[in-house]
Amino acid sequence: MSIQVSNIDKHYGDTQVLHGVSFSCDAGDTLVLLGPSGAGKSSLLRVLNLLETATTGEMTVAGCQFNFSNTIEEKASSALRKKVGMVFQQYNLWPHMTVLQNLIEAPIKVAKIGKEQAKQQALEILTMLQLADKADNWPLQLSGGQQQRVAIARALMMKPDVLLFDEPTAALDPEITNQVVNIIKTLSQTGITQVIVTHEVDFAKKVASHVLYLEQGKIVEYGTHQVFTTPETPEFTAYLSH
Ligand SMILES: Nc1ncnc2c1ncn2[C@@H]1O[C@H](COP(=O)(O)OP(=O)(O)OP(=O)(O)O)[C@@H](O)[C@H]1O
Ligand SMILES: [Mg+2]
Repeated sequence: MSIQVSNIDKHYGDTQVLHGVSFSCDAGDTLVLLGPSGAGKSSLLRVLNLLETATTGEMTVAGCQFNFSNTIEEKASSALRKKVGMVFQQYNLWPHMTVLQNLIEAPIKVAKIGKEQAKQQALEILTMLQLADKADNWPLQLSGGQQQRVAIARALMMKPDVLLFDEPTAALDPEITNQVVNIIKTLSQTGITQVIVTHEVDFAKKVASHVLYLEQGKIVEYGTHQVFTTPETPEFTAYLSH
């Protein structure tokens, strides 16, 4: 099991935004998180790499175990972050660094990989994502879709077991979205587990092996890709028909 989440509650102050969330993913699964705005999708995603701490519950992600009733040790959270990559809607590339520098910065500084090795690995990943000719460009010289692929490339540099995406296609046109679909499918074949928040049902249908539909912080529907054709709840049926 690559991700196992049990009974997660999350509060921001007095407001509870996740209620008893439990699910699991095997290596290579692509789990799509769907739900209306404010349902708690981003909050759940951020708990998975400890950008947010849950109030209670337990999780195991890429072999790292956490019980939120206890204090999370810094050592344990940094072990988790080495195995979990994150790609945001705003690509968050460093504008003062070239594409190549964006890719090799964390491996050199955090993972202590040699510069030459990091460069070689970066070029392999850029080639796979059809960006090899952009290695020396500045982020602002790239299109939105190219920047998003660089952000994915940068996350892959750390060789993550789990990759989290928050609305990776929100700013992209349909053709570029299809490129992201293809990248996600290729990555799932390498055994990387992916969790993807999206509002785009068509995109979700193309990439998901599993689906988790949230409303007001609670799981309403959870199943395999099959739930797109035969949803079990009236809520998810209604969501799909919008
Ligand atoms: N840092 C925060 N402090 C307080 N409340 C927050 C914080 N982040 C999110 N919330 C609240 O938690 C709830 C869930 O937010 P979240 O961002 O997880 O929803 P979402 O499903 O990702 O929504 P969207 O589709 O609009 O991105 C919302 O009511 C939001 O206002
Ligand atoms: Mg969100």
